[in-house]
Parts: sequence; C-alpha cells; structure tokens
Amino acid sequence: MAYILGFGGYAPDNVMTNNDWAALVDTSDEWITQRTGIKRRRIAHEDETTMTMSVAAAETALEDAGLAPEDIDEIILATDTPELMTPDTAALVQHQLGCRNIPTYDLGGSGCAGFVQAVDVAKTRITVTPKKILVIGVELISRMISATDRATSVLFGDGAGAVVMGPESGRAEVLDVISGTDGSHAEILTLAAGGTRNPFNESSLVSGDYNRLVMDGRKVFTEAVRRMSEASTEVVKRVGRSISDVALVIPHQANKRIIDAVGKKLGLSEDRVFVNVHEYGNTGSATVPFAMWEATRDQRIKDGDLVVLTAFGAGFHWAAAAVQF
Ligand code: ACO
Repeated sequence: MAYILGFGGYAPDNVMTNNDWAALVDTSDEWITQRTGIKRRRIAHEDETTMTMSVAAAETALEDAGLAPEDIDEIILATDTPELMTPDTAALVQHQLGCRNIPTYDLGGSGCAGFVQAVDVAKTRITVTPKKILVIGVELISRMISATDRATSVLFGDGAGAVVMGPESGRAEVLDVISGTDGSHAEILTLAAGGTRNPFNESSLVSGDYNRLVMDGRKVFTEAVRRMSEASTEVVKRVGRSISDVALVIPHQANKRIIDAVGKKLGLSEDRVFVNVHEYGNTGSATVPFAMWEATRDQRIKDGDLVVLTAFGAGFHWAAAAVQF
C-alpha cells in the first residue's frame, strides 16, 4: 500500500496579469479570460530556477509530513523544464535539500501528465520495497518558451508542487493509478529544438525554433477532455467505486473550458471539480500537486473523501489516480 504523508507547493510572488501580457503582445484580458479562464499567473524571479522552486515545494511537503530531508529514500521529479540538460534536476534537489546519497531521477518530457505518472511509479516502488519517496512536479515554463508568441505564452505560469509518499498509513492512500500514452500525436504539442533531432545552434536561434512551442490548441483541447474524463472513470471503476462517490476531482489546470468539459462529461457539479487556473495559469506538471496542496490546506478535502487526480500532456500522455483521504 502507498500513502501520501504530506503536501507542499510553491509559487513565485511575482504576479503577471492578462493586462500585463496585453502591454507586451497583441492580446487582451477579454480574449484570454474567455478562451482560457486565466486571469493571472506567477512568473519566476531572475534568481529562481527549477531547482529552487522544487526545493521550496519539497520543504513545505516535508514539514507537512513531519519529516526531515534525511528521512527521504528516493526522489522522483517530473518536469519538462529542467534546470540543466544534464544532470537532472532531481540530483540538484537531493544536494540542496540535504538528503542522503539516495537514488533520484527526473521523469521528463511527459508534459503536464508527468506528476501523476510519477505518483504511479512511486506507488509501485513503495509496494515492492517500503520507502519514503519525495515526488515533485515543477515547471519554469516562462523561461523556456517564446514571450512573443501570444498563442502559447499567455497560457502558462511557473510553480512547483510536491508530496511525500510512503508505506505507512498517512493522510491519504493512493488506491490505484492508471497511465496511458499515444505517441502518434507527438508533433502537435512539442518543443522540438534542443534535442538530437534539432540541436540548439545558430540556425535554431535565427529561425526562432529554439523556444517555439508548437501546439494545435483545438486538438489538444479535445484529446485532453476525452483522456482525462475516460481515465478518471476507469480508475474509479478499478477501485470498485463510481463517480458519484467522488468528493473532488483535481484535474490538470490548463484551461477552465477543458476543466468544465471534464466535469460535465463526468456528470459532476462545479463544487466537486477543483479550479485554480484563473490564479496560476497552466504550470505544467506542477498543476496537480500544487492544487492538491491548496485543496488540503484550504479544507476543500475532508477525511473520508475520495479524490481523483487526473492530468494530460504532451506525448500525448495521460494519467488518473484514485486517492482515499
Ligand atoms: N490573444 C488574442 N488572440 C489570439 C491569441 C491571444 N493570446 N492567441 C491566438 N489568438 C487568435 C488566433 O490567432 C486566431 O486568430 P484568427 O482567427 O485570426 O486566425 C484566434 O485567436 C482564434 O484562435 P483559435 O485557435 O480558434 O482559438 P481557440 O478558441 O481554439 O482557443 C486555445 C485557443 C485557448 C489555445 C484553445 O485551443 C485551448 O485552450 N486549447 C488547449 C491548449 C492548451 O491548454 N495547451 C496547454 C499545453 S497542453 C496541456 O496543458 C494539456
């Protein structure tokens, strides 16, 4: 069995509103609000990095769990915006947090689905060998994508979320997790430059490919709604429950219209679907752990609640977890 022992999160205090974006690119508060529900997002300060935000989220999760860095046996960090190409961000976090020389690794490239996938991996590893695993979802997207591309730049924000998982009874039990991938859509949500196919070089700099996020917004929208609602239904069924037993769904926070459509497909009233995308925008793999931290902190979740986490991201990857508080 695998439990969540503590929740944590971090968002930079630098707030960027839709009107701030409208002063930089040809957009408006009205367009962004109507299409996405986003009103503002947090942007990392210059001295903040993927590692510093991860450490801040991890420290709050450790404190919530009543644990110290030396109690952690493993770190899994989900991100598409790593601190360096190599080594991974998890290694930097291990050192900065003051953990023992434990195994750590990044789960990279799964876009916004990375954290729930990492919970899936952590649950399996804890079941095989009892251990305490720090699971982090973090993105510093503002520094990686073009600020002048209004079609993508306004959608995102920076942030981090974390949980500590372990084998003993804790705040919530992770009953089951399902994950899936359809790699045939890799080309319609991709930041292709910087890898071996299109290394960073003079031509990617001149063409602007080095920070161009290619996205077919409509296709992403449709697939996100379909996969998150199907995965949520399936994971609840696998644990012998039904959607009517679910107290709260915490979906990936990409867009209010996507979140509303998932809630509608699942037949859930608005108060049973968690939303904070208006405040933080899309923080990639950080949305679900950060939202879970907020929901627990603000007493949106009570003991006895069945909660479903679900996420969808580049790949396409998707995942859903049934969590019993
Ligand atoms: N401000 C003003 N106009 C804009 C902006 C902007 N920021 N961005 C695009 N437009 C324009 C387009 O150029 C287009 O103009 P045109 O009609 O003259 O060509 C017009 O607005 C309409 O664009 P559409 O693509 O039709 O707008 P749509 O209603 O599909 O909304 C959106 C676009 C918000 C991206 C939507 O498709 C969406 O939310 N898709 C999901 C994508 C997503 O969330 N991606 C995040 C990463 S993946 C993930 O997290 C799951």
